Amino acid sequence: MTEALSSAIRAGLPVDDCAFDLIYPSSQRFRSWLHWTPLEVAQRACELLAPVAGEKVLDVGSGVGKPCLVGALTTEASWFGIERDPDMVRAANEAAKRLGVADRASFRLGDMELMDWSVYDAFYLFNPFAELLAGDDLDALDRRVRYVDNVELVQHKLAHAARGTRVVTYHGFGGDMPRELDLVQCEKRRDGDLCLWIKCR
Ligand SMILES: C[S@@+](CC[C@H](N)C(=O)[O-])C[C@H]1O[C@@H](n2cnc3c(N)ncnc32)[C@H](O)[C@@H]1O
Repeated sequence: MTEALSSAIRAGLPVDDCAFDLIYPSSQRFRSWLHWTPLEVAQRACELLAPVAGEKVLDVGSGVGKPCLVGALTTEASWFGIERDPDMVRAANEAAKRLGVADRASFRLGDMELMDWSVYDAFYLFNPFAELLAGDDLDALDRRVRYVDNVELVQHKLAHAARGTRVVTYHGFGGDMPRELDLVQCEKRRDGDLCLWIKCR
């Protein structure tokens, strides 16, 4: 089954998300429709990022890893995910093994804040911090502050990235892109904007 999925994705054929999601534990699948990049969007995101062999791409808040897995299947680059949920990291690394791309798609447990972003050539962000805004319990204000801190940190890291760095956002990342990056392309995919930005200054 996984061989058929890998072949179809490599060939650029449409693959149904429900069929692909069977690669993950059932405890994760219910999040798919809202939290994970749909395969057809991931395929297009990888085309826009267009990394070449030897380049490194980081998915900031990688969830169960769909964009990196698609990237490893369709490009020669190396794909990395940073994710703060241990079960998702485990599911993503297991899926990479089953799809035969564990050598070029790997996922690490941690906070994006603590990573050195300077070693990556390109970044993918699917609105990673949105969950902090959900709910109106007593912690809501604290979470709102963390949300703003995270967004500002991403802005800072991207503003200081190397010239030529490519960034693809899906549903944005919660703030304005720093002025050092140019919007090169933006297209509607499903219910969100998929945008390519390049650091030109
Ligand atoms: C909307 S999901 C996107 C998942 C994946 N990038 C995709 O496109 O399918 C955002 C993910 O970011 C993770 N996340 C949020 N804040 C994070 C942080 N500070 N460091 C690492 N991961 C984080 C969440 O746990 C969640 O799994």
